[in-house]
Amino acid sequence: MTTKKTAAADHASLVRMLRDEDFASLAARAYALKTEVWGKRVALRGLVEVSNVCARNCLYCGIRRGNAKTARYRMDEDEILAAVAWAAENRYGSVVLQSGETDDEPSALFFERVLRHIRAELGDGLGITLSLGERHRDVYRRWLDAGANRYLLRIETSDPELFARIHPAEQSWRTRLECLRTLRDLGYVVGSGVMIGLPGQDVDSLARDIEFLRDEGVDMVGMGPYIAHPDTPLAAYAPRLEREQLLDLSLRMIAAVRLAIPDANIAATTALQAIDPEGREKGLLAGANVVMPNITPRKYRGDYLLYPGKPCTEEDSELCRGCLERRVKSIGEEIAWGERCDPVHFERRTR
Ligand code: 5AD
Ligand code: FES
Repeated sequence: MTTKKTAAADHASLVRMLRDEDFASLAARAYALKTEVWGKRVALRGLVEVSNVCARNCLYCGIRRGNAKTARYRMDEDEILAAVAWAAENRYGSVVLQSGETDDEPSALFFERVLRHIRAELGDGLGITLSLGERHRDVYRRWLDAGANRYLLRIETSDPELFARIHPAEQSWRTRLECLRTLRDLGYVVGSGVMIGLPGQDVDSLARDIEFLRDEGVDMVGMGPYIAHPDTPLAAYAPRLEREQLLDLSLRMIAAVRLAIPDANIAATTALQAIDPEGREKGLLAGANVVMPNITPRKYRGDYLLYPGKPCTEEDSELCRGCLERRVKSIGEEIAWGERCDPVHFERRTR
């Protein structure tokens, strides 16, 4: 393994962080470590939700193929380019292109073309992250060659049995893991993460999630609370946690990941903001260092509903930019405008 295991993050101490430690002192420890590694700076990634067309049927997700209530859209190449150019002009250090999963050659080719176009027009300065799901090694390689730098693929849970309960039989935990390892082998900066508060998930399981992320050498971590979507099968399971508990656990997870993988990039995610209007600020104060403001054209935002209550669906990119700057300032941090903020973890891992 390339990552160093610290005594501070063995299984028992992770469980303690998630369940027993006083929250304020846990968050303070994690935040101190975050400022040591990153300073009082927040990295921005502009999130473009390029399409909600999806071939998969995850039991929790609002844009699963089985949800006939979702109106499907695909941004065209010009729309994607315009959103990315806006991000570059506004000194967002990087963008994330995220989409429902499709597993065909036309979509592979489409993103290859889009990436080449972005690089031709905007050069190499901007970090480009893809979040397009499970694909073959060859496709990942082509996208890397076309100019992508990073890839986000959540494992969702490190427990294969829990994974099997929240996904249809045709989707496998093993495949997801193989994809993550392929991405790492190919040289991507790799991000992964889990959902927090899933039915049947306990603190032990979440502690193992953190060990998984650390041991797989993940450079970036994005985690958020599971929020039941009424038009999905998993919503039939009563939510296990109250909102307050879910928020507490989500923030503890951020803090514990910071302590377990000090130099990772950790996102204060949109789902956190969905369960608390100040969720992102609280995430930053618990050790996260990345925020991913939505820069999807407004007309599509309402259709990319992975879960209900998703924030910023009525706002546009300009408004979110100002809002975010204010919010980050309000907690005494600064946005690292125009900087890619590559995870130190990646540099260490590949040195
Ligand atoms: N609640 C919270 N997060 C969700 N995601 C999908 N559906 C939900 C939900 N109902 C997350 C998954 C996926 C990411 C793009 O969104 O973790 O990997
Ligand atoms: Fe979108 Fe605050 S970030 S309105």
